[in-house]
Amino acid sequence: MRTANPLPEVPPHGGRLVNRLLSGAEAEEARAQAAALPAVSLSSRALADLECLATGVYSPLEGFMDGSDFQAVVSGMQLAGGEPWTVPVTLPVGDAVAGWVKPGSRLALQWQGAPLGVLEVSDCFRPDKEEEAVQVFGTGDADHPGVAALYEGEDFRLGGTVWAWDLPRQDPFAPYRWTPAAVRKAIADRGWRSTAAFQTRNPIHRAHEHLQKVALEVVDGLLVHPLVGTTKQGDIPPEVRLDTYEAVLSHYYPRERTLLTVFPAAMRYAGPREAVMHAIARKNYGCTHFIVGRDHAGVGDYYGTYEAQEIFDRFSLDDLGIQPLKFDHAFFCRACDQMASIRTCPHSTEERVVLSGTEVRRMLRDGEHPPPEFTRPEVAEILVDAFQESGAQRA
Ligand code: ADX
Repeated sequence: MRTANPLPEVPPHGGRLVNRLLSGAEAEEARAQAAALPAVSLSSRALADLECLATGVYSPLEGFMDGSDFQAVVSGMQLAGGEPWTVPVTLPVGDAVAGWVKPGSRLALQWQGAPLGVLEVSDCFRPDKEEEAVQVFGTGDADHPGVAALYEGEDFRLGGTVWAWDLPRQDPFAPYRWTPAAVRKAIADRGWRSTAAFQTRNPIHRAHEHLQKVALEVVDGLLVHPLVGTTKQGDIPPEVRLDTYEAVLSHYYPRERTLLTVFPAAMRYAGPREAVMHAIARKNYGCTHFIVGRDHAGVGDYYGTYEAQEIFDRFSLDDLGIQPLKFDHAFFCRACDQMASIRTCPHSTEERVVLSGTEVRRMLRDGEHPPPEFTRPEVAEILVDAFQESGAQRA
């Protein structure tokens, strides 16, 4: 089955693709001016947000949220202007900065001692962190990694528009850090009328591949879009994952119908709310569809298996502007001798090859390859090597 009608270009969220990235003489001038401004050091999470804001991943946001957007998002899952938005994007600062900034203040945004952006402050506010945690993460439990990051962060937030330069940075992902505009161009050049995006913070296991390929049966193109911002301790580092993506794509995917670039955001582990945010961001990259499987962006057992799918029913498709592709739990069934889900497989659970993340990490640490029904051998080899080198520290 193929999509029949040509689709128009996907409008960005809020109607306009934001670009706050300076280059050339403008960047030089901004850098020189920033040297004279008071500076705020960015955490790796804030840096990831700055990149997403400046490149339009978070369109229509042109900067960190002010108090009214923040409150509307936390309590009503929309921006003050009414567009759906589910996760706050704010800049935490301490009392020292909160004590003197006022609307109109300009601050240099620093990373590792060098200014790479400017914030023009519109608001400084002190959020109720517990309310934010309960509303956004569904829990106030400090063991939740997203809630922990929120509680550990500074107490005040700055809102205001940003400009940035020197992005993308020179790191292993630089060749893959395509802006939304660049991905949109690639989609147009390839003539894809429909594109499904796949978010992941893991190596591509067989279940992921299954979801992607089922999607590819009905859409023209696949954007494999691994998140490379900060993740929690225990998740496989993105530079190792990148090797696994290249390996699996070169052996098992139609390259002309697959695009691999990275998603610069940090992981929040906000489950359902983050799933919607992930979808909106991929719409900004020009995708028409977004894959949502089991426990998307979840952690531990904080969220129900399909809560991240159900939340999409609370938004109209017109308002969201991207179609979620919802998938049941996928597994390899030995009796079917293929990937399946309860929608397609009549056999008992004993026939299924299902491994938990903890089991997989145990195997990799012990130098054992997960079964090929779970992970392609090319991927298993890269993971075992990486864990043998440094797995003990990471696990
Ligand atoms: S996530 O935090 O990025 O969501 P992960 O990389 O594990 O984590 O998952 C990527 C996508 O694949 C998500 O949409 C997730 O719901 C889906 N997924 C992962 N494993 C399975 C599975 N066995 N069956 C169905 N969907 C899955």
